[in-house]
Amino acid sequence: MQHAPPIMQTRGITQGDFHQIVSVIDHWWGGPTSALAHPLFFYEFGRHALIVEEDGRMAGFLLGFITDGEARVGYVHLVGIDPAFRRRGVGRTLYEEFTRRAREAGAVRLKAITTPGNQGSVEFHKALGYSVELVPDYAGPNRARHVFVRDL
Ligand SMILES: CC(C)(COP(=O)(O)OP(=O)(O)OC[C@H]1O[C@@H](n2cnc3c(N)ncnc32)[C@H](O)[C@@H]1OP(=O)(O)O)[C@@H](O)C(=O)NCCC(=O)NCCS
Repeated sequence: MQHAPPIMQTRGITQGDFHQIVSVIDHWWGGPTSALAHPLFFYEFGRHALIVEEDGRMAGFLLGFITDGEARVGYVHLVGIDPAFRRRGVGRTLYEEFTRRAREAGAVRLKAITTPGNQGSVEFHKALGYSVELVPDYAGPNRARHVFVRDL
């Protein structure tokens, strides 16, 4: 008998998902990271947060929001994929869905940042068509960040 292929689904997050994100995030990043999954990304911006699951298991999540300035920006604060699901297009799927929603909300640009040394993140954003700039002092004195931007 043939098994049906696993089904990946993208959807908005629930409080249960948020609790799960907080409990796996340090493991997924390989170090203390849970402070980045601040509750405001669930309580205030939860409408823009997404998860991908395969047969009910969370494979990845995206915490983002859309700015309300004159030129609206879809900002991805944090994206994380379960190490067991990497390089299978889960990150790309999350970004595509966030991009679709950002466009629908009138965003003209997408933006994200990451810390120097996170080469996987740099390569991922390049592969998705983002420009990359290393900005010294972006996050304060001697706190450089890679800044990723993509116009819509
Ligand atoms: C970066 C990250 C989100 C990528 O997610 P992913 O689901 O593995 O990425 P995808 O499978 O959608 O990759 C899409 C493309 O991006 C590029 N890419 C992704 N990860 C890469 C890596 N580690 N090294 C080089 N290129 C990479 C590839 O071109 C890939 O296409 P391919 O697999 O067909 O070659 C994931 O590795 C992760 O969660 N890392 C830890 C958390 C993190 O650093 N988050 C980003 C900063 S907040």
